[in-house]
Amino acid sequence: MASSQTEKIGFGSKLGFVLAAAGSAVGLGNIWRFPYLAAKYGGGLFLLIYIILAVTFGFALMLTEIAIGRRTGKSVIGAYTAIDKRFSPLGWLAALVPFIITPYYCVIGGWVLKYLFAFCANQNSEAAGDTFFGQFIGHSAQPTVFFLIFLLATAVVVMLGVEKGIERISKFMMPVLVLLTVGIAVYTLTLDGAAKGLRYYLLPNFDGFTFKMLLKTIAAAMGQLFYSMSIAMGIMVTYGSYMRKQDSLEASVRQIEIFDTGIAILAGLIIVPAVFVFSGGNADALQTGPSLMFVTLPKVFDSMAGGRIVGIVFFVLVALAAMTSSISLMETVVSIIMEKFHLKRIPACLITVGFCVVLGMLSVLGYSAWSGVKILGKQFLDLFDFLSNNIMMPIVSLLTCILIGWVVKPKYIEEEVLVSEKKFSGRRLLYVMIRYVCPVCMIIILVTPFVTDI
Ligand code: PFF
Repeated sequence: MASSQTEKIGFGSKLGFVLAAAGSAVGLGNIWRFPYLAAKYGGGLFLLIYIILAVTFGFALMLTEIAIGRRTGKSVIGAYTAIDKRFSPLGWLAALVPFIITPYYCVIGGWVLKYLFAFCANQNSEAAGDTFFGQFIGHSAQPTVFFLIFLLATAVVVMLGVEKGIERISKFMMPVLVLLTVGIAVYTLTLDGAAKGLRYYLLPNFDGFTFKMLLKTIAAAMGQLFYSMSIAMGIMVTYGSYMRKQDSLEASVRQIEIFDTGIAILAGLIIVPAVFVFSGGNADALQTGPSLMFVTLPKVFDSMAGGRIVGIVFFVLVALAAMTSSISLMETVVSIIMEKFHLKRIPACLITVGFCVVLGMLSVLGYSAWSGVKILGKQFLDLFDFLSNNIMMPIVSLLTCILIGWVVKPKYIEEEVLVSEKKFSGRRLLYVMIRYVCPVCMIIILVTPFVTDI
C-alpha cells in the first residue's frame, strides 16, 4: 500500500473505490470544459467521437494505471520504479503533476465557492455583472480566503484517511451530485426555447465541416478525455494501490467511465440549452470558452425564473465535483510524501497544505497584485495548467504506453486483471491500444496545441 509501514490503508468496498475514482474523474473538466468544447466542435459529432474514444483509448489508459497501482501496491514513484528501475524518472515526472495541479485546482475551487456564496447571499444580479469576475480575481484578499477554505476542506477529508475520509465522503457526495445534475438538466430542458439548444448540442453539425475540422475535433476530444479521466497524474495509480484484490478491475473501469462521461453529457444538457434560451438562440454565446462558467452562466441564471435557486444548486454541484477531484489530487501528493519520507498521514497532510498555500498563492497573486509577472507569456495559474496538461501529462502517458506496451508487455496488466476475473474481455483492445493507438494519440495531443489554434 502507498503508506508508511505502520498504516494499512485501502478502500473497504468496490463501490467505495468506484465512487472515489469517479469522484476524481468528475470535476471541473466535465462541467465547465466539456460543454463548451462540445458546442465548439460540432455538437453531436464531438459527443460521438468522445464516446468512441472513451471506451477504447480511455479504457486502456485508465485500466493500465489502476492495474499498475494495484499490482505494485505503491504510490506513483514507487510503482514505476518497481516495474522497471530505468523508468523511475517517469515515476518522478508523474508525481510532479499533482504537486503542480493541486494548488491551482484549489484556487479555482475557491472561485466556485465565491459564486456559491454570492448566489446564497442574493447577490445574483451583481454576480451576473460584466465586471464581477474580473474584480473578484483582481484583488487578492477574497480569492485567498475562498482558496484557503476550499484547500482546508479538502485537507480535512484527506486527513481522515482513505476509508473513513475519501470513501465515506465519495459515497455521500457522488449520489448527491448525480441527483443535482439530473434535477437541473430536467429543469433547463423544460424552459421555453430549450429544444433548439438541445438539437444544437445533440445533433451533429456538418455545416462548413472540413477534414481539418474533423482532425481538430478528434484532437480536442482526445485532450478532453485525458483531462477528464484524471489520467497521467498518479491519481489512478494511487487509488489502484488502495483497491481490493478481489474486486473486478475491468468492471470498475467501465463503471467509472460511465459516471464520468454521463455527468459530462448531462452538464452539457444543462448548459447548452440554458445559454440558448438566454441568448435567444445565438450559439456564439457558448463560444466564450473558459469564461463560460464564471461570466456567462451567472447571467443565464440571473435571467431565468427561479434562477437564484438554480444558480445555488448548480454551484453546489460544481463545488462537489471539484472537491472530490481535489481530494484525489491531494491524496496522491500525500501518498508520495508518506512513502518517500516514511511519514504518517497527518504530518504528510500538513506539509502538503503548506506547500499548496505557497504555490496556490502564486496563482492568486498572478491575477491580482503580481499580474505584471509573466512567465512564457502566461500568468502563474495558466502556466501551471499549461505545463501539466499540455506537456507533462501527455509525456507521462506516452512513456507509460512504451513501458507497458513494449518493455514489460501488456501481459503485466492482463495478469493483474485476471487476479480478480476468470476472463478478460477487453484483452485485445488493451493490447492494440497500449502498443499502437495510445502512443500515436499522445503524440497528437502533444503536438496539436503548438500547430493549431485549438
Ligand atoms: N478529472 C478532473 C476534472 O475533470 O476536473 C480532475 C482534473 C483533471 C484535475 C485535470 C486537474 C487537471 F489538470
